[in-house]
Amino acid sequence: MEAFRRSKVMFTAVSMGVFDLLAAGPEDAYALSLHMEAGEDAAARLLDGCVALGLLEKNGSLYANTEMAARYLVRDSPHTLAGYILYSDRVLYPMWSHLDAAVREGGHRWKQTFGFEGGLFSHFFKTEQDKRTFLLGMHGLGQLSSPAVAGAFDLSAFRRVADLGGATGHLALAIAARYPDMEAVLFDLPEVIEFAREFTAGSRVQLVAGDFFGDALPEAGLYTLGRIVHDWSPDKIEALLGRIYAALPAGGGLLLAEKLLDEDLAGPAAAHMQSLNMLVCTEGRERSFSQYAELLRAAGFSEIRGERTGAPLDAVLAIKK
Ligand SMILES: C[S@@+](CC[C@H](N)C(=O)[O-])C[C@H]1O[C@@H](n2cnc3c(N)ncnc32)[C@H](O)[C@@H]1O
Repeated sequence: MEAFRRSKVMFTAVSMGVFDLLAAGPEDAYALSLHMEAGEDAAARLLDGCVALGLLEKNGSLYANTEMAARYLVRDSPHTLAGYILYSDRVLYPMWSHLDAAVREGGHRWKQTFGFEGGLFSHFFKTEQDKRTFLLGMHGLGQLSSPAVAGAFDLSAFRRVADLGGATGHLALAIAARYPDMEAVLFDLPEVIEFAREFTAGSRVQLVAGDFFGDALPEAGLYTLGRIVHDWSPDKIEALLGRIYAALPAGGGLLLAEKLLDEDLAGPAAAHMQSLNMLVCTEGRERSFSQYAELLRAAGFSEIRGERTGAPLDAVLAIKK
């Protein structure tokens, strides 16, 4: 009953910059309340709530970040999840308040929540700030999974990988780091490729801008799709997988990074929550390994294997014979 309260306390503390302020050192409630532009009593209640949740420590009257908060909740930390938290606070939290309508009508809630229509990513990227928040969210969460996805299968037979819809490039970077001889390309919409430059600078990941539904795909022996299949309707998935299959040489591969549902669809809970999230904000859904295998076989792929990685995203590899 109160899980949403806990989430909202963390979202609000991140959004008000509590963890960023405390990155400089411990402070008391009065000093923090001035930065937060809040009354001291209400600010102290939020701070004490964070202490109770294990996000802050309190010594006497001074609050400090826990190790976990310093790693994941401070915006400048290299491991920060603040992007996904802010995206959850500003976008997902209001959209989830219409879950009942999403279930009844079977579709996303962009129009109901924010009053506008258009292509899926025109919502995510409506303003520069929206785009930044979303992509930083993808980056923070992606970093937790990409090294495990890159290591889920032996990819050493492939000479060139192209990560389609790769956002900041965390998966392309993880594969490039694991396979030093493999060339790596990051392909995404032009406005995202511009944003990706700061994340891929100094690496050997090449950047290519384009639309994976309409433009020629960069040449590669291995394509990757991280959290792409779960965004789209069956028609669009069929079109995208068909284009990838046509672009691959014989022996080429397609690696998916997605959270797998159990075969009996009884769990894991995080995958079901994500599937409902997809209902609320995309055209897509989460799937089990067999369900992905069916989509891949229909596109022509064979030798389809799935691996649970233990990270937030699992991996599926399919080969074009
Ligand atoms: C859910 S995000 C996943 C990003 C990344 N693969 C990851 O796992 O962090 C979807 C990505 O697909 C990209 N995208 C959406 N439509 C696209 C299109 N038509 N062509 C190329 N990229 C697209 C978005 O810009 C975004 O980076």
